[in-house]
Amino acid sequence: MSSIPHDHVAGHGHDAHDHRPSGIMRWVTTTNHKDIGTLYLWFSFTMFLVGGVMALTIRAELFQPGLQVVHPEFFNQLTSLHGLIMVFGAIMPAAVGFANWMIPLLIGAPDMAFARMNNWSFWLLPPAAILLITSLFVPGGSVSAGWTMYPPLTIEAGMGMDLVIFAVHIMGASSIMGSINIITTILNLRAPGMTLMKMPLFCWTWLITAYLLIAVMPVLAGAVTMLLTDRHFGTSFFNAAGGGDPVLFQHIFWFFGHPEVYIIILPAFGIISEILPVYSRKPLFGYASMVYAVAGIAILSFIVWAHHMFTVGMPTAGLLFYMYATMLIAVPTGVKVFNWLATMWKGSITFETPMLFALGFLFLFTMGGFTGLVCAIMPVDIQIHDTYYVVAHFHYVMVAGSLFAFFGGVYHWIPKWTGTMYSEKIGQWHFWLSLVFFNVAFFPQHFLGLAGMPRRIPDYATQFTDWNMVSSIGAFGFGLSQLVFLWAVIKCVRGDGEKAPAKPWEGATTLEWTLPSPVPYHTFETPPVVK
Ligand code: CU
Repeated sequence: MSSIPHDHVAGHGHDAHDHRPSGIMRWVTTTNHKDIGTLYLWFSFTMFLVGGVMALTIRAELFQPGLQVVHPEFFNQLTSLHGLIMVFGAIMPAAVGFANWMIPLLIGAPDMAFARMNNWSFWLLPPAAILLITSLFVPGGSVSAGWTMYPPLTIEAGMGMDLVIFAVHIMGASSIMGSINIITTILNLRAPGMTLMKMPLFCWTWLITAYLLIAVMPVLAGAVTMLLTDRHFGTSFFNAAGGGDPVLFQHIFWFFGHPEVYIIILPAFGIISEILPVYSRKPLFGYASMVYAVAGIAILSFIVWAHHMFTVGMPTAGLLFYMYATMLIAVPTGVKVFNWLATMWKGSITFETPMLFALGFLFLFTMGGFTGLVCAIMPVDIQIHDTYYVVAHFHYVMVAGSLFAFFGGVYHWIPKWTGTMYSEKIGQWHFWLSLVFFNVAFFPQHFLGLAGMPRRIPDYATQFTDWNMVSSIGAFGFGLSQLVFLWAVIKCVRGDGEKAPAKPWEGATTLEWTLPSPVPYHTFETPPVVK
């Protein structure tokens, strides 16, 4: 503890004595967890807009069959980059931003354990984002095989593919450093009395997520490195002509890719578990079972990867194993949904914006979970593999899941972050517009998929036109609705609004406004002085 220099504990009212740089250099050199959390969140929102513009270009192209808004080859690259940018640029950095802001506050730590590495973890991301975006515009273009980068297409792809591989390496390094920081902070810097089983659930979900990241990011790095050597150094890991096997890539990729799904959703679970108790005015129901459920989901996530590859020609025993293992995940997930409902049961519920997003999450994520079960049924999946049904499924999980939880988290904590209350009116508009347009955009994709419309194609048979039009209208509505969110956030940042009280969310009991559940020893507005 004493090794943390004093000015690295800035941001807790020492500003007058601080000699930290100002202007842009403040952000480049900052080692303060709050500053770095802010950087992560703004970076994530920027990437969300970049990936969103790509999504809207995709939806414009798909508005009607026969349109040529973009070249078909470029369309394929857009679907790939949309996925990569949303997963690695928008969702994951947002979760790390929440971790940076809230974990030290929730466990009573003065800052993250490795404050300077924290700065480096963030500043690796902008160059990676630039590599991803410029990959679209170099000779030969970028990856056009989806965000999963399946060979053999990616062995033959243009130079942009090399930029994508480099970007994946950089983002992986950033994630691993972030994870080491989070694990060390949680295990070593908790305030006296804050035992692991007293930690707010958000810290638990991130602790487990960080272990998942450390376990699977190197696997992805290995996969893309083998891809790189296949491309340039004469190896044939995935090249059948040289004795390799393209299916091997799918196995390695999804050994990373399925746990990645939980890397994306577990921090969102944590945020929901912080929000629901506050606006229900009851402690979280079944705290310990929540921790075990998260751990159970994480462990199971390692043994289900081949459910993404039911059509590659696996032995029946393999198909059955992956089907049943996948269905097993519904058990701990059910425990969590039950506990969230039980938390609200007979609570004194109010419906401020964070609660609305949490309820939206609960309903829509559960629906995404159910369509996940549909996809897990192997004979069904063989029919709907690579159709829009799967696209609908994972957008319910990732957009209505992670994204709604993050929106809820921002509204819940932004009074704390900026000192200004958000406008409830703007927040409610943002929620209802997002809820309606999200469903208009993605619900029809279930019908399209069941009717047989394949994903990742710029044109389609005419019978799919109607629902595609509806979906495109919904997507543009959803995209524009996010400007309402930007407006709400900018108002808070500029201090344009009611001044936030010390505890903006009054609980019925002694609940602190960050509401760790169960109510801990104490929640720290300012960190205790540790000698
Ligand atoms: Cu999976």
